[in-house]
Amino acid sequence: MTDESNLRLLAACAIVREAGQLARDYFLRRESLEVEFKGRQDLVSVADRAVEDVIRGQLTRSFPEDDVIGEEGGYATDRGGDRVWVIDPIDGTANFLRGVPYWSVALAYVVRGRTELAVTYDPVHDELFAARRGHGATRNGHPIRVSGRTDADKSAIGTAYTFRASMEAYLSLMDGLMRAGLDHRRLGSSALMLCHTADGRLDGCAMIYCHAWDVIGGLLLVEEAGGIASSFLADAGLTVPGPTFAGTPALRGALERLTGLKTATQR
Ligand code: IPD
Ligand code: CA
Ligand code: CA
Repeated sequence: MTDESNLRLLAACAIVREAGQLARDYFLRRESLEVEFKGRQDLVSVADRAVEDVIRGQLTRSFPEDDVIGEEGGYATDRGGDRVWVIDPIDGTANFLRGVPYWSVALAYVVRGRTELAVTYDPVHDELFAARRGHGATRNGHPIRVSGRTDADKSAIGTAYTFRASMEAYLSLMDGLMRAGLDHRRLGSSALMLCHTADGRLDGCAMIYCHAWDVIGGLLLVEEAGGIASSFLADAGLTVPGPTFAGTPALRGALERLTGLKTATQR
């Protein structure tokens, strides 16, 4: 642990909590928000942009030398540097705009291609998930662990779908999951499903198409909670969408077979 890394984690927690309060304020008055479509079944509103702006502003003030990537604003700079913050201001916007209380604010910190910090906040339930590489994962400051379930037919896996992805690939994942005896949940926030894998509520996640901002923090949370995960940044990258998985060590073989990916080797 470096002091600097710890300070950054504390700063990230404070920034995400503040942004989460703003998001929650918007959530409580969501019916007054104008909904726009970025694509088929791909919603956005002023809330997503305002929350990202708050996070960007705080990060730029606190860490002016770092780069920032956000779902709504793209790159803050074109430097593509070694230290990059990655923001998903609201993961689960479709839930958010419908009033379904399952969405989150996600922030991750990547140093030379490796995720070092993760902070994901569920403002509705006031649950803040945080992880620092090599130092474990917490929910509201308390250590969390992946589940101890070992049987596929007692396990449940979080999944995600977007109409930008191949329908056949999703149906094939569903087919494989169900034939393996695994149950599944598609809860609408990949970032939060990964937190719920890290804390043992779910046993894993398997996704065929996601962006770095959806998942890289959650993958670190699962690894730091004693689980396994694919190496999204090595397989896809910061700006290229791709598949991923994370879960309990017991589900490693099943998750690798279902996604065709390999578990990241711990460095
Ligand atoms: C969405 C969530 C969801 C996934 C969608 C994503 P957004 O993120 O992560 O789980 O199924 O593909 O787009 O758009 O609400 O930030
Ligand atoms: Ca989003
Ligand atoms: Ca997202």
